[in-house]
Amino acid sequence: MSTVRIGVIGAGNMGADHVNTLHRHVSGAVVTMVADIDVERAATVTDAVPGARATDDPYALIGDPEVDAVVIASHDTTHADLTVAAVRAGKAVLCEKPLAPTSAECVRVVREERQTGRRLISLGFMRRFDPAYTELRDAIADGVCGAPLLLHCVSRGVSSAPGATDELSITGSAVHEFDTVPWLLDSRIDEVSWHAARSTSTVTGLRDPQLMLLRTADGALTTVEVFLNAGYGYDVRCEVVGERGTLALTHPARVVTDSARARSLGHPADWRPRFADAYRLELQAWADAVASGTPSPLATADDGLVASAVAEAVITSMKDGGRSVAVQVPEV
Ligand code: NAI
Repeated sequence: MSTVRIGVIGAGNMGADHVNTLHRHVSGAVVTMVADIDVERAATVTDAVPGARATDDPYALIGDPEVDAVVIASHDTTHADLTVAAVRAGKAVLCEKPLAPTSAECVRVVREERQTGRRLISLGFMRRFDPAYTELRDAIADGVCGAPLLLHCVSRGVSSAPGATDELSITGSAVHEFDTVPWLLDSRIDEVSWHAARSTSTVTGLRDPQLMLLRTADGALTTVEVFLNAGYGYDVRCEVVGERGTLALTHPARVVTDSARARSLGHPADWRPRFADAYRLELQAWADAVASGTPSPLATADDGLVASAVAEAVITSMKDGGRSVAVQVPEV
């Protein structure tokens, strides 16, 4: 296959961003179709891509002969059914995280993929392609600071999206850490607990910030702070405390401002500028794998199942006074 013809489902923040990245920055790929239940939103996105068609029917996109591979960037609750449909159509699919909000739904998707005997599903855990995170992972693997003992992960945003819930902070935001931590440490998460500080007064009906503790099989302990309404900017941090020193992501800003007798670094408003390189590298790696018929280097459906199982254990802890809960990954 020379050029991979891609259909993108969901034309919201993430879908529109992926279409733009595929169109402008990924070689060997062309966006031929965009589907959104709000077809006007899909059409706004296809307007910028010559030859691309808009539809309100994601299943028509999956079955379309001019779509070789599918990106799913619609609402979390749609991921499982749409991924299964793409797998049944024999098409490679890049599903945004999470694979599904519950591990039971993830099991259904993984089973469906196994029946094909092929690895068709890739998952959008894009931090695996972020240059800073990959450098951090390499430094841990090289033993630069000795064995990792503690990790401190922070995920802060400006304000929560409408409809935010305590559970969504876990399945939608913290789930990135549930993939990142085992990937950084090469060790699975065995046990978790959930804790809350006094909530910010800027929102009602949401426990924010939340703090989670993750114990990995290697004995390291990770703190995860998720603070959706931190207000000041989008800010993702990670520090690894090892036996002989520490490793940490640096501030991602490329410009420092000196003004009014103060020095400052800017924060992005959301995740898109922070992870623009990661999305581009991820989409390029995926398109290359689809074009060459080689295994995708992205996270797998099984990785998505594991991350959702961790999220479920954290929610169990949240509903049970913050007790430690063992992570149970269901059999497929
Ligand atoms: P959004 O709400 O901006 O957009 C979602 C779009 O999907 C909307 O336009 C909606 O009309 C459409 N949609 C809903 N159901 C549909 C269906 N059955 N068929 C076709 N279109 C449908 O949401 P956003 O922020 O773009 O998130 C989309 C997905 O991407 C979510 O699963 C989210 O968890 C994930 N995401 C991933 C990020 C990452 O860093 N990897 C960052 C942000 C979101």
